[in-house]
Amino acid sequence: MPERPEPFRVLDWDPDRARQLGEDAVDLWVELLARLPELPVSREFRADELREALAIEVPEEPLERGELLGHLRSLVLESSIYPGHPGFLAYISGAGTVPGAAADLLAAALNQNGGAFRLSPGATTIEEHLVRWLAGRFGLPAGAGGLVVAGGAVANLVGLKVARDRAGEDARGSGLRAGPPLAFYASTESHVVQQRAADLLGLGSEAVRLIAVDDRWRMRPDALAEALERDLAAGVVPAAVIATAGTTATGAIDPLPDIAELCERHGASLHVDACYGGPAALADDLRPLLDGIERADSIAVDAHKWLYTPLLGGCVLVRDSRQLAASFATEATYVWLDEALREGVDLTLHGPDFSRGFAALRIWLSLLAHGRAAYGRRIAHDAALARYLGELVDDHPDFELMAPVSLSICCFRYAPAALRGDEDRLDRLNERLMMAVMSDGRVYCSNAVLNGRFCLRACIVNFRTEAEHLELLVEVAAEHGARLAAGTDRR
Ligand SMILES: Cc1ncc(COP(=O)(O)O)c(C=O)c1O
Repeated sequence: MPERPEPFRVLDWDPDRARQLGEDAVDLWVELLARLPELPVSREFRADELREALAIEVPEEPLERGELLGHLRSLVLESSIYPGHPGFLAYISGAGTVPGAAADLLAAALNQNGGAFRLSPGATTIEEHLVRWLAGRFGLPAGAGGLVVAGGAVANLVGLKVARDRAGEDARGSGLRAGPPLAFYASTESHVVQQRAADLLGLGSEAVRLIAVDDRWRMRPDALAEALERDLAAGVVPAAVIATAGTTATGAIDPLPDIAELCERHGASLHVDACYGGPAALADDLRPLLDGIERADSIAVDAHKWLYTPLLGGCVLVRDSRQLAASFATEATYVWLDEALREGVDLTLHGPDFSRGFAALRIWLSLLAHGRAAYGRRIAHDAALARYLGELVDDHPDFELMAPVSLSICCFRYAPAALRGDEDRLDRLNERLMMAVMSDGRVYCSNAVLNGRFCLRACIVNFRTEAEHLELLVEVAAEHGARLAAGTDRR
């Protein structure tokens, strides 16, 4: 007789024990929400101190409840920065919706594998419905589809993979050696993930032709036309033009109708990187800024930016959902199912991941719990706040607006009269000023480099930010700016 293993149920916590840990975690979450406005946005973290506090030995036996909670408290309340703090204005980092956090708990509890319909029937249904709803907001036709991937980098990569496979002869099977060279076109203000995508797709990063921008940081259609014609004359196939709807530095929106026209004329796909600006489609007063996006073959949009959901929520949308399968479908013998019994769509066949989670739930629950109208109003409010910051900066004698305010981004610098004209000194001063603001704790902004000049940059994708926090940003920046300018900083 074989020895029959006894049950081993140590990891199988009963519902009461699950509730205890769940309640401890929820209590900590609620404490974080209550204390958020008073906590410092960030502090000066030292890597060795964090290691000391957090990098504990994995225990042989379970940590007891108090120790476990103490460890979590140290992570949550002492070792983190807070993108959800009303003074967080840096990069393009959404505040993180409250429903999104609850959704993450449930998604993990369900543990669906969103790669296969049979392993995630409800989750797949919601994800497909969500991406179709988003596609509809951009005016894509009924056959459009898409999926939730990791972040914007992957969403762009998927859109460009579809474009590559449409343009390249047997690119999936033979790689790129079978046909003529391919190129992508994106403005000099486009995000660096486009070059990374070209590299990953085998075109090489230099295959992204960087097109000049106008004085509002938008791609110049005349320069695009020239680049397309030059490549066509040299036997290079234009695979896709990447228009950016909301550039990272200034929030500029490339002229989508003009670019769509050129794509149609030259047979290139139109891919729109709307990772940041896409959610403007939900705000009635901002929606017209995206006119032309309905002509896109693919769109990348990040829910974790201006839909405020917790990281990550990159969505890729394609005009014709069949193109995803044409680009990604592969067969694995171990996932055999009788065709006659097959039900629903297996999203693993539509994207780069094989097993997939249920990231769509944090987006879906956020939309259901807030509703489209509140989202639209808050997104419009963020844009109004950015314009208000632009006016505060303009009115202040020691600050200079560095780009027109677009969407919810304002770029400016500290430039007191005595230093105007000394560009190198202003660069160094503003670099140090940004570091001072970052470690101040009251507010937190990041930077942009425009025409080679260093600027402070505030991007409002935070539903807790209000006018008072922008007034505080100007006050804090002026305070540190004056201190730094008065110092002996003449390096
Ligand atoms: C316009 C744009 N595209 C793509 C990305 C990359 O997105 P992610 O960081 O989600 O990968 C960003 C990031 O800020 C962005 O601003």
